[in-house]
Parts: sequence; C-alpha cells; structure tokens
Amino acid sequence: MSLLKKTFQGAIKISIRNYSANTGLIKPPKILITGGLGQLGVECAKHLRGKYGKNNVILSDIIKPSTEIFNDGPYIFADILDFKGLQKIVVDHRVDWLIHFSALLSAIGEQNVPLAVRVNIEGMHNVIELAKQYNLRIFVPSTIGAFGPDSPRNPTPNITVQRPRTIYGVSKVHAELLGEYYHYKFGLDFRCLRFPGVISSDPPGGGTTGILFK
Ligand SMILES: NC(=O)c1ccc[n+]([C@@H]2O[C@H](COP(=O)([O-])OP(=O)(O)OC[C@H]3O[C@@H](n4cnc5c(N)ncnc54)[C@H](O)[C@@H]3O)[C@@H](O)[C@H]2O)c1
Repeated sequence: MSLLKKTFQGAIKISIRNYSANTGLIKPPKILITGGLGQLGVECAKHLRGKYGKNNVILSDIIKPSTEIFNDGPYIFADILDFKGLQKIVVDHRVDWLIHFSALLSAIGEQNVPLAVRVNIEGMHNVIELAKQYNLRIFVPSTIGAFGPDSPRNPTPNITVQRPRTIYGVSKVHAELLGEYYHYKFGLDFRCLRFPGVISSDPPGGGTTGILFK
C-alpha cells in the first residue's frame, strides 16, 4: 500500500473519531445496532440519532418493530447468525460502527442453553469477524454476570477470577476475551463495559436483575 493511501486512510479514521468534538466539518459515522428492539437498543438509538443524525443510526433485530419505532428512523431485519446477511448490510449501508446488543440474557439463556450458545457465542464470532473484515469499531456490553461465586467482592477488581455459573456469564467472559484477542492480534477497535442490571423506561429482556425489578 502506498504511503499516500495509508496517510489518507489514517486521516479518515481520525476524522470519524473526532466527529463529536468537531461536528462542523466531518461526515458522521454510520452505526448499526444489533438486537436493537431489546431493553437497551431503542433508547440508545434515540441518543445516538440525536448526536449523529436520524439516518445514520440503523436499528436492527429479528422481531417486528412497533409502528412508532419503525417511523422513528431506519429499521432493518438482521439475524446475527447469518454472516452473509450481515456482510450485505455493512456493505449496502456503508456501516462504520457496530453496537452489538443481541443476546439471550441470563434467565432466558438458562431455559435454552443450545440457543444461548448459538446467539451469544456464535453470534459474537460473526460480529467480531465482520468488524475485522470491514474495519468497524465495535462495542459489546458485558455484565456483572461475567463474575461468579468465586470472584472477590467489595470491591471486585477489574481483572480477577471469573467463573460464572450461567451460560450467559460464560458467553460474556468469552466475548470479553475474544474482543481483547482481536484487539491485540488484528488491531480491532473493540470496546466493552460491564453493565449492572440497567433500569430503563423500556422493560427488561430476561436477565436475573430484570426479573428482580419486575
Ligand atoms: N439490560 C441490562 O440490564 C443489561 C445488563 C448487562 C449487560 N447487558 C447487555 O446489553 C445488551 C442488550 O441488553 P438488553 O437488555 O437490551 O437485551 P434484551 O434481551 O432486551 O434484547 C436482546 C435482543 O436480541 C435480539 N436477538 C435475539 N436473537 C437474535 C438474533 N439471532 N439476531 C439478532 N438479534 C437477536 C432479541 O430479539 C432482543 O430484542 C446484551 O448484550 C446484554 O447482555 C444488558
């Protein structure tokens, strides 16, 4: 690759990253949210649409949206188990950033472990490989469920024993490690935060904390 091309690509990357600080000049990122009709997706899309423009944030899921959500901004079908389908979406919509919310949460995951393995682990493989192939920034939330009974408490260190006893927790430890691996191996811009049980205006999607709040 010529130096000029490299420099040009570097400049684009920096421009996109500086968008929120310097909105006058630069093209906003195109953002795809997977599993967007769950507890967190719709509110997150609202926030990002306010920041980057309605048409730059695409909500996706495998379920039918309400009329209100459909009229609120771009909505498409995206099954994270369909790698080719995901490739087509990224290419057709020129996606830059991926916010990966699709998951089977803890209580639901325990009711159907094989499906949780597919959605949470195989799905994670698909989106991270997609992010690598198309040079996307990717955010994947983790959870306090990625700890387990053997993890020390008060305070729990960031790096510590993680031996969860749910398939959801196991899949999130896997996601954390996979993201870190892709970052060091391929330079992927992978971001991850461990959320506690989130309280929101939308109802919870089947985590244990969600059930406690019901
Ligand atoms: N809500 C919380 O309190 C909380 C806490 C910690 C971490 N998180 C994480 O945040 C993310 C979003 O959580 P949420 O509460 O919105 O989840 P949710 O259960 O409400 O929504 C998950 C969405 O994933 C979709 N989905 C399932 N299978 C799919 C498939 N094959 N392809 C595409 N989409 C599929 C579902 O239709 C659903 O809308 C998850 O990764 C979750 O682990 C959430």
